[in-house]
Amino acid sequence: MSNIPQIIIDTDPGQDDAAAILMALGLDKLNEIKLLALTCVAGNVPLHYTQKNARIICDWAQRSDIPVYAGAKKPLLKPLFTAEEVHGKTGLDGTKLHEPNTVLQEKNAAIFLAETLANASKNSITLCPIGPLTNLALAFSLNPQCIQGIKEIVIMGGTFFEAGNVTPNADFNFFVDPVAAQIVLQSGANIRIVPLDVTHKACITNERMEALRQLPNQNGKRFADILQSYERFDIQQFGLEGGPLHDPCAIAAAIRPEFFNQKSLYVEVDTSSGICEGATALDWHGKSGKTPNALWCYHIDDKSFFDYFTHAISALP
Ligand code: BDR
Ligand code: CA
Repeated sequence: MSNIPQIIIDTDPGQDDAAAILMALGLDKLNEIKLLALTCVAGNVPLHYTQKNARIICDWAQRSDIPVYAGAKKPLLKPLFTAEEVHGKTGLDGTKLHEPNTVLQEKNAAIFLAETLANASKNSITLCPIGPLTNLALAFSLNPQCIQGIKEIVIMGGTFFEAGNVTPNADFNFFVDPVAAQIVLQSGANIRIVPLDVTHKACITNERMEALRQLPNQNGKRFADILQSYERFDIQQFGLEGGPLHDPCAIAAAIRPEFFNQKSLYVEVDTSSGICEGATALDWHGKSGKTPNALWCYHIDDKSFFDYFTHAISALP
C-alpha cells in the first residue's frame, strides 16, 4: 500500500475551511495526500449551508468524485452557536456561489466515520476536524472500536497563550461543542492540536493575498476574493495583520509537522456553562501528574506554511 497520508476532513465551511479543503484538494492533485471524504457539521453556519458549501468547493476544484457527507445539525448538549459575522450568511461570502454538482451522500457523516474507521487498516487514516467535534464524538459513541483505524487526529481548536476569539478564553470550535471536544480528547487516539496560539500567527497579509491573486489559475483569484471579505473581522476585532488561516494550519500540521513547535501534554476542555466554557486547561508544566493526551502546537514557521499553502493552491484549476 502507498505511504501517501489518507485524510478525512470534518468541516463547517466557513471561509478558512474552504481554504483548508482547497489546500487538501491541491495536495491530492500533487499526490502528496489522498483525500478520502469530507464530512460536514453545523458550526460557522447551519448544516444546510456547510454541506452545500463543501460540495461547491469540490466543484471549484473539479473534484465531484470526492464523497461529501452531512452529519450533526447541532452540538451534543447545547443549541447551535454560529459565526455569520465572520463568514457571512452563507458561510462563503466574498464570491459567487452556484448550485453544486457534487452530490451529497445519503449516509450520515457520523455513521460513515464509524464504519470507515472500524473497517480501515490499523492506524491508517488521519482525521482533520476543523469545525466543532460533534461528528467525531458521535462516531466514537456509535462504535468505540473505530478508533483503531485512526493514525492521528489533527484538530483545529482551543487556545492557551492567545485570548479566545468567541469568549475570553475559548476558540469557536471548542466553545460550540465542548462536550464533543472533551470526548475526542479523552478517546485515547493520537491527537495533535492546532490552537489559536499558532493560527493567529498564520495571517494573510496584503502581500500574500496579492501572491494568491497573481497565480495563473481561477482558484487563486477566487480565494483572494473570499479572503478579502474574511479578513475585516479579525483585523477590526483582534488587531491581526490579516485573516488568520486557522483551518489550513491543521492540514499543514498533518502533513508537515516540522513547520510547528510542539509539546506533548495533558489537556482538557471545560464543559461547564460558565465563563470558561470551551476553554482549554493545558498542563504546560506537568502539574497535574496526568499522562499527556495530545501534542500541542505552540509556534509556526509561518513563511514555510504559507509557501506550502500556495504550492497546494497552485495545483488547482
Ligand atoms: C475556528 O472557528 C471557525 O470560525 C474557523 O473556521 C475555525 O475553524 C477558529 O476558532
Ligand atoms: Ca472551521
